[in-house]
Amino acid sequence: MSDDESIDRYEVSLVRGDVTGAVVVDGVRVLATVDDELVAVERSTSWLRGATSGIRGVAQVDGGTLVLVDDGLVSLADVVSTSPLDAELDAVALDGTEGAAVVMEAEGVFAWQNGRLRELETSGARRGVGANGGMVWVASGGRVYGIEVGTWAVVDRIRMRPDRVRVDAEGTLWTTDGDTLERGRDAWVFPEDIDAVQVCNGAWVHSDGRLWRVGETVRATDGMDELWACDALGRALVTGEDGLARVSDGRPIGFVGVPAELDGDTPFSLEVTGDGLADVAVDIDGKPIKLEDMAATIDALEWFDGADHLLSAAVLYDDGSEARAETTFRVADLGQVGFATGVEPIYDAACSDCHADGTETELAGYDNWVESFDVIVSMVEGDAMPLGRDPLTGAEKATIKAWGEGGFSP
Ligand code: HEC
Repeated sequence: MSDDESIDRYEVSLVRGDVTGAVVVDGVRVLATVDDELVAVERSTSWLRGATSGIRGVAQVDGGTLVLVDDGLVSLADVVSTSPLDAELDAVALDGTEGAAVVMEAEGVFAWQNGRLRELETSGARRGVGANGGMVWVASGGRVYGIEVGTWAVVDRIRMRPDRVRVDAEGTLWTTDGDTLERGRDAWVFPEDIDAVQVCNGAWVHSDGRLWRVGETVRATDGMDELWACDALGRALVTGEDGLARVSDGRPIGFVGVPAELDGDTPFSLEVTGDGLADVAVDIDGKPIKLEDMAATIDALEWFDGADHLLSAAVLYDDGSEARAETTFRVADLGQVGFATGVEPIYDAACSDCHADGTETELAGYDNWVESFDVIVSMVEGDAMPLGRDPLTGAEKATIKAWGEGGFSP
């Protein structure tokens, strides 16, 4: 491990005080225990959510947030409450899939789902646990067990004895043992035993009093005491000189909340996130998207055509420098739209007041819509109709067009 390359360190101080734990929720939001208080950190502001002991892990389950603290599992709604476990916990992996959390403690490894605890099948001394995308990996005895979330069946057994197991967003297993970090056939050896490892777009390692970034290159920085977590932009949460800090290799910018593949029914919200952003302009395929507080809700149906769409952001940082970020997403094809299920509800809600039978332009029913299809499309596309009201949404316009293009099915 060469010492000559140091990371292009960009550090943001989040909270001052004595940090005993920190986790990332929703990809970027930070929950931490600072001076024995649980603190939610939002864009450099912070507020108290109640007192608790050190945080070990977190998961979004059934719309709520579960937080694992030193002595139990708590659910974080508006207040910190209920502790289904009452034990000294050694390690935790929480996976939001199917509302499940997996907890390791001295007595065994447990899955928490729908308010119930169930012990998982592993044997030997328990060492580490990691979870992602519907799988939980438990290092126990001389093996790593791959356990399917939901059925809780052991679907994989790998012979190895790591100290820690981590799973990245792609589902790849990262393990550490002593001074070695491994990912599949890749192995990195550090000067001293690894104190902590976190994976996200590569890995962060704390070893030999230094913080290392393992990506295409391996680079280090000094002055970081403890590594807690990392986020969707690959930033590390660490205890720095006087409290909790977020560190990255260079200045990061990215999107949070944009799924790569959408079913078309659900709107999604996107958030542009980074450090020191002064101004951001976002567009989809060149069409400007209005942001409020760096976030926007996107009507997925407006982009329903099954093609790839390019989401890009042009960023101005507070020091005057600029950057761009891009990502692509795809919304599944709307499929077959029928008149009765897709189009008529739009007519009922937005047109029927003025175009019922007996009016000058009758639009009630299938035949009228087929006959006037072209002029209807041009009216709604140009927002001339519905007269004097809010224009149809992108989803409604897309539904009408898809109905015609799909051959006017009843
Ligand atoms: C508040 C009343 C009102 C609503 C709501 C409304 N329209 Fe109209 N629309 C009119 C009026 C008034 C005209 C012009 C007179 C006429 O043709 O009936 C018109 C005309 C039209 C025409 C004929 C245009 C032409 O040049 O031939 C179409 C097509 C049409 N509307 C479609 C729609 C559709 C589709 C909706 C619902 C999405 C809708 N309108 C909602 C009032 C309304």
